[in-house]
Amino acid sequence: MVKQLQNYQYAKYIPSSPSIGGTTVTDPLHVHLSFGYPSTHLFPLIELNRAASNAILNHGEHALHYSGAEGPAKIREWIKHRSKIRSIYVDQNQIITTAGAMQAIDLAAKVLLNPDDEVWVEEPTYFNALQSFRMTGAKIKSFPIDEHGVQVDLIEEALVKARKLNKKIPKLLYCMPNFHNPTGVSLSLERRKKLAHLAYEYNFYILEDDAYSELSFKNRYLPAIYSFAEERVIYVGTFSKIIAPGIRLGWMIANEKVLQNTHLLMLGSQTNPFTQEIIASLLEEITFEDHLERLILTYRQKRDIMLESIKTSFGDDVTFVVPEGGFFLWLNFHPEVDTANFANEAFRRGVSIVEGKPFFETNQGANQLRLCFSYCNEEQIRRGIKILADAYYAYYE
Ligand SMILES: Cc1ncc(COP(=O)(O)O)c(C=O)c1O
Repeated sequence: MVKQLQNYQYAKYIPSSPSIGGTTVTDPLHVHLSFGYPSTHLFPLIELNRAASNAILNHGEHALHYSGAEGPAKIREWIKHRSKIRSIYVDQNQIITTAGAMQAIDLAAKVLLNPDDEVWVEEPTYFNALQSFRMTGAKIKSFPIDEHGVQVDLIEEALVKARKLNKKIPKLLYCMPNFHNPTGVSLSLERRKKLAHLAYEYNFYILEDDAYSELSFKNRYLPAIYSFAEERVIYVGTFSKIIAPGIRLGWMIANEKVLQNTHLLMLGSQTNPFTQEIIASLLEEITFEDHLERLILTYRQKRDIMLESIKTSFGDDVTFVVPEGGFFLWLNFHPEVDTANFANEAFRRGVSIVEGKPFFETNQGANQLRLCFSYCNEEQIRRGIKILADAYYAYYE
């Protein structure tokens, strides 16, 4: 029988483009300054091997079963304890583990948003979060960032105006207060407090995405926004940047109502208990502070090499804020530059970067680009920046 396929209408809000930053290039000489990935060499493979064996041999019967909604307690105990560095003091039952920070963001968006609700975001912002908000049918409004993070005075102005004109108040404000993706900047203490105050005053939730929280090159840990507004902040963390992204383990800290709704949305499909048992065993096995020190040292060195290479290759033709943690460096070019022009050329010459535009909901970012210093080795960073500069000067002499 010949099957005649008819046109099928798929769901309205499926993203129109794939996630950005990953390329399929397998040439070993290609330099991936686009990948927002941790350094492969920092994965604790030997310790993970032992932890996996321990999880199977000593906890396998439990960890390989359906585990009930909560999952293993040990991992939440660790998260509870570690959260104190950001002045977050919670009980285990205020924490839900998720398949990475991204699932936590997605669940939070689904719990809070209906079509036509408003989400306010930083500009630029993390593109996968943008995709997730778009999929709820919510309207997105953006606020600019300077070297102290999102400009909270502009958010306040917009809230005052919205209330006065009887316009929509956002249901959710999405913010990355530490080592922001893509700009690398952190939100000042005053702005954190102000945002928390506004969340109560105007009755919206803040989704605090703290994916890079631990990777502070100066060992400086400002309190989380959560610590100033426990009832109006959903805090999100992840093991992706401090252990490995492939384990797909993150978490959400929130109030009881949000957590209840999140559990309902997860439809009984708890986060992989086996992985949680392995990571719990790993964290018992290693001294986390020593592991973290190694990560910070490595990433700080890579950042410094990237900064030095940029100064050598671009001189005063670019500006940037020096990131004090995380993975990213955000380059600003002259306003007439379009980074798309030379990004393609750089790609042909063997370097990938991410152009600025996808990080914006509005039509901005043409003269900006994101570099990631965490994934490549020192030689690749030096070579990659040199090639990028050659591609740039081929267009803009
Ligand atoms: C700001 C930010 N939030 C969330 C994520 C997603 O992290 P995960 O791997 O835990 O889903 C990333 C990953 O790159 C990120 O940069």
